[in-house]
Amino acid sequence: IGQRCFYFDEIESTNGFILKHAEELDSGDICVAEYQSAGRGRRGRTWVSPYGCHLYFSMYWQFPQGMAQAMGLSLVVACSIVKVLKQLNVDEIGVKWPNDIYLAGKKLAGVLIEMSGQTDNECNLVIGVGLNMAMSEQHGKSIDQAWSDLTSLKSMPNKTELLTLLQKQLQQDLSLFQESGLTPFQSRWEEADLFIDQQIKLLIGTDEVHGICRGIDKQGAVLLETDDGVKSFIGGEISLRKA
Ligand code: ATP
Ligand code: BTN
Repeated sequence: IGQRCFYFDEIESTNGFILKHAEELDSGDICVAEYQSAGRGRRGRTWVSPYGCHLYFSMYWQFPQGMAQAMGLSLVVACSIVKVLKQLNVDEIGVKWPNDIYLAGKKLAGVLIEMSGQTDNECNLVIGVGLNMAMSEQHGKSIDQAWSDLTSLKSMPNKTELLTLLQKQLQQDLSLFQESGLTPFQSRWEEADLFIDQQIKLLIGTDEVHGICRGIDKQGAVLLETDDGVKSFIGGEISLRKA
């Protein structure tokens, strides 16, 4: 059976749509919109989602073996995005643990994973991707960190083509991830990791931990070398920053 695509001119959030309709969906179904009135990032933050040439889409995916099978998923999705952009000759692409894609050191795209349901042996997730293609200065002003888009490229990819490539790459990578876990993605992640072997800090609530970034483990945790040795950190409340 082919995957379905629910297309909207305007929507609150494509992640919200998939969450609402999860019961009727199959793995690989997507929701795409031209504009999001309430696009969201992690921890209640906003994803600036104006009309124009940008991608906002979400894919539904079921992990039959439960939550443990989905650990590290945002890293896999980031690897898929990097692979497609590299195919389109986008240079200077990098990733920041656990969910951000940077172009020339500025945020180009983000991944938001939300859970729509969980039982002992099944975990249903929404994978949201936002990617700036041609952000106007005016809309860019409402983004409270350095951002980038694809306008610096010699030729702008066609939006539909980009979406199709991402959809295919995601399906391929998610199937591989479901079968083999994060291992096949570790080297792909580390090749693109902007902070590997660099001094970083992890913000964990009001705490800060400093150390050298040593990549990721098989669960998708970030590895930090501190005076006490290498430790792994994982969890939705952690943010990585340059020290
Ligand atoms: P971290 O994930 O490490 O906490 P983050 O600050 O990037 O880092 P996220 O929740 O991943 O936080 O992403 C949301 C943030 O992304 C927003 O707070 C804003 O700074 C930024 N942002 C919002 N919209 C856009 C956009 N269209 N392009 C680039 N960045 C954006
Ligand atoms: C982040 O960097 O925090 C993740 C941003 C994810 C944004 C995308 S846009 C499509 C989907 N719908 C949403 O409301 N958010 C994600």
